[in-house]
Amino acid sequence: MKLLHVDSSVLGENSASRDLSAAIVARLRAEHPGAEVTYRDLAAQTLPHFTPVLAEGHPCVARNAEILDEFLAADTVVIGAPMYNFTIPTQLKAWLDRVLIAGKTFRYTEKGPQGLAGDKRVIIASSRGGIYSEGPAMAVDFQENYLKHVLAFIGVHDPEIVRAEGLNLGVEQRAAALANAHERINGDLRVAA
Ligand SMILES: Cc1cc2nc3c(=O)[nH]c(=O)nc-3n(C[C@H](O)[C@H](O)[C@H](O)COP(=O)(O)O)c2cc1C
Repeated sequence: MKLLHVDSSVLGENSASRDLSAAIVARLRAEHPGAEVTYRDLAAQTLPHFTPVLAEGHPCVARNAEILDEFLAADTVVIGAPMYNFTIPTQLKAWLDRVLIAGKTFRYTEKGPQGLAGDKRVIIASSRGGIYSEGPAMAVDFQENYLKHVLAFIGVHDPEIVRAEGLNLGVEQRAAALANAHERINGDLRVAA
């Protein structure tokens, strides 16, 4: 098993999504002792804004290729994805800009776009301060909905989402949301998004 673990929270040790993504990876490692794990911390090593036109030999060309190859090589991808300002962190968007590449992870056909990366298991550790899975704020969830859309675009139609939400609604609510997410990770991890 080749596992790619990506984190994007800027909150370091206080990060909920880092806590959850690490627990997911620990669970997968326990199930697959021979797993080869690659870790990419997008907050510690930020990628610059994407510039598609680069001179050959530019160091960014090699790094962009490395990121794409890392993604293509993985059969399982765990993504720590907090909600910042209703969407994903800009660090994670910069990574996706290197992953959604025409001819590699999708292509345009006469019938429309076709995803080419559908053979992967993708698990998202989603964290957010408010509640977006129900109620009036559902319409402004541009974090999970965005991730689901871009993943479907490249062929991953069934990402699993481990969610802790309402994290900023009080100490008890935060503890309960995290405990609930960990229970899921330790129980039936294979959950539909
Ligand atoms: C820059 C920033 C923007 C945020 N924007 C939102 C937001 O739009 N909606 C929300 O519910 N929570 C928001 N939050 C709260 C985070 O989603 C919450 O703290 C969550 O735990 C972040 O995950 P993390 O701990 O892994 O970084 C924001 C937090 C930060 C630091």
